[in-house]
Amino acid sequence: MDLWDCFIFTAISLVWVLVSHRGNASEECDLFNGSWVIDEAYPLYNSSSCPFIEREFSCQKNGRPDSLYNKYTWKPLGCDLQRFNGVKFLERFRGKSIMFVGDSLSRNQWQSLTCMLHSSVPNANYIIAREEDVSAFTFTDYGVKVMLDRNVYLVDVVREPIGRVLKLQSIEGGKLWKGIDMLIFNTWHWWNRRGPTQPWDYIQIGNEIRKDMDRMLAFQEALTTWGGWVDSNIDPTKTLVFFQGISPSHYNGTSWNEPRAKSCVGQQEPVAGSRFPGGLPPAVDVLKSALRKITKPVKLLDITLLSLLRKDGHPSIYGLGGPTAMDCSHWCLAGVPDTWNEILYNFIL
Ligand SMILES: *[C@@H]1O[C@H](CO)[C@@H](O)[C@H](O)[C@H]1NC(C)=O
Ligand SMILES: *[C@@H]1O[C@H](CO)[C@@H](O)[C@H](O)[C@H]1NC(C)=O
Ligand SMILES: *[C@@H]1O[C@H](CO)[C@@H](O)[C@H](O)[C@H]1NC(C)=O
Repeated sequence: MDLWDCFIFTAISLVWVLVSHRGNASEECDLFNGSWVIDEAYPLYNSSSCPFIEREFSCQKNGRPDSLYNKYTWKPLGCDLQRFNGVKFLERFRGKSIMFVGDSLSRNQWQSLTCMLHSSVPNANYIIAREEDVSAFTFTDYGVKVMLDRNVYLVDVVREPIGRVLKLQSIEGGKLWKGIDMLIFNTWHWWNRRGPTQPWDYIQIGNEIRKDMDRMLAFQEALTTWGGWVDSNIDPTKTLVFFQGISPSHYNGTSWNEPRAKSCVGQQEPVAGSRFPGGLPPAVDVLKSALRKITKPVKLLDITLLSLLRKDGHPSIYGLGGPTAMDCSHWCLAGVPDTWNEILYNFIL
């Protein structure tokens, strides 16, 4: 071999090593790719013995007749999830604070975690308190505070003389997030709100105030602002930062090859396998690209695919109820958010 052949040979070998290494890595543990399997050891808690579970998520209590949906556990490809141990969790966070920040999907995950912890230590003392937008659940024997800051856009909505302004580059709300030991953020569902439940009248980007704009771009802009907040305010030696990924809704059966289904009502089983026919919502890519631009470590709880498979996991008519109420956005508890928390647990232990 002359020098050139030798060079080519080395280059090809290197590419081969890189490619085969990647090949191996994809067969290794990916906690976010897998399928749902029945496990009689689930659910992780009895929803009727979690005294503070909200009516909105109490599907069994609200009369949901089937219960198989409670028996599924998430099986990642290539590995197993370590089962949640509430005592270990509380020991790990002794004297520390945890905060979920976001919309009602954050509330769903927060409730799930408090139920998972409470059922692990049913005799431990706790206090629930609420101050403005922050709800706090404290396990006093451990000094562990699990909080929820309701903040649907992460960026600010400010009342001004012209009306309520959604300010894509302002994040004063971040004052509440300083000094917390673990933060789990989420925003998405409110970005497409229109009409009477849209909680703003104008949207501001830079110095420009508009009546409206492309919502996906607005979402992206807000995530950039939030990423900037993380980079300037987080000390990674003190604070763990997670983003709870895009939680999907199930209002259109076409997406799971059942075009006659107009909602999730009556769904009793997950989609089998690891693929969701309708694909991922476009917001996932926007989120992932925003996260790549952040310098400080932020771990994505990439729960979209595993939740998409759970068309059976929503309250449907067994949530807040009423003849018109159909909830295929939130999740029954016990249920899918327990898995999000179990995955979270696997990252922090
Ligand atoms: C999940 O794994 C399957 C099988 O390896 C693969 O075909 C699929 O593309 C993966 N899905 C994602 C979202 O990574
Ligand atoms: C859940 O708790 C309720 C009330 O304590 C009890 O009646 C019921 O049998 C329990 N269910 C299971 C599956 O343990
Ligand atoms: C459901 O999705 C399909 C395919 O995207 C679309 O053609 C249909 O109009 C949707 N149905 C409803 C009720 O939105």
